[in-house]
Amino acid sequence: MSWIPEVASNFATKVDGVLLFVTILSVIFFLLVSILLVFFAVKYRRRREDEETPYITGNETLELIWTVIPSILLMVIFVYAFVVFRDMRNPPADATEINVTAKQWLWQFEYYNGKKTLNELYVQQNRPVRLVMKSEDVIHSFFVPAFRVKQDILGGRYTQLWFTPTKVGTFQLFCAEYCGTGHSKMLGKVVVLSPEAYDIWEKGAGTTEEIGVASLPAAERGEQLYKQSGCNACHSLDGSSGVGPSWKSLVGHKVTMQNGEEVTVDENYIRESILEPQAKIVKGYQPVMPSFKGILSDDDISALIAYMKTLE
Ligand code: CUA
Repeated sequence: MSWIPEVASNFATKVDGVLLFVTILSVIFFLLVSILLVFFAVKYRRRREDEETPYITGNETLELIWTVIPSILLMVIFVYAFVVFRDMRNPPADATEINVTAKQWLWQFEYYNGKKTLNELYVQQNRPVRLVMKSEDVIHSFFVPAFRVKQDILGGRYTQLWFTPTKVGTFQLFCAEYCGTGHSKMLGKVVVLSPEAYDIWEKGAGTTEEIGVASLPAAERGEQLYKQSGCNACHSLDGSSGVGPSWKSLVGHKVTMQNGEEVTVDENYIRESILEPQAKIVKGYQPVMPSFKGILSDDDISALIAYMKTLE
């Protein structure tokens, strides 16, 4: 069915089954009611000026039928959907746990071995995963259409979600709860690796080369990081003002801070702004940027700087 997203998790077919069942039932009853409506309107129309409407008090058999059949159908829908829903709420005991932190406007994933990734969730094909999720600010929602899973993420308490990815590939992750100006750009990817590729990734040789992503020149890697790390949610490339200053022609230029101080944007200023965003706030902007300490490595920061230098 081309109107339904790709099937890539253990739940996808089950959820599609419920959807299809309810849709087909609805279509059948819609057609039944509309066709009968038109048919009766024509058949029992008034044909003469003096024609009188017959006096009908009711028909118990008919009323029983149109009460009992829909009631049974409703129970069937309930039980069918509940069985699928119950499955989705109960993760298996052997599921791999991954901690998810959502914040304006990025996704951070932390694995059992301490590895962290930004906006890219790495999971192994055919191995169940349980996500333990929290928000550092407002309500977000973790939504992967190809997996048919969606769960709100709240501040001050954990919510969970589980699935078993069944297909190797990269799948779109959306934030499905309006969470501020950067909401529509709060995107991520779920990367499903084969067991062999996951092994290599897990041991953390780290790079990407072995799992099929070529290594790139610094500026190009910076460009990827700009999107992957969520910089694009707040910093434009075309000079337009966003939640944060645009990156266009930023490096080497002077900017005015909130306290009136003038600072030249150089490597150290950028590094400081990434690791300690509250240290110096450019005039006219709010101190809302999260720290990327422990999230972006020194290499990543250098790549971002290299990329920023190309934006003249
Ligand atoms: Cu986070 Cu919308």
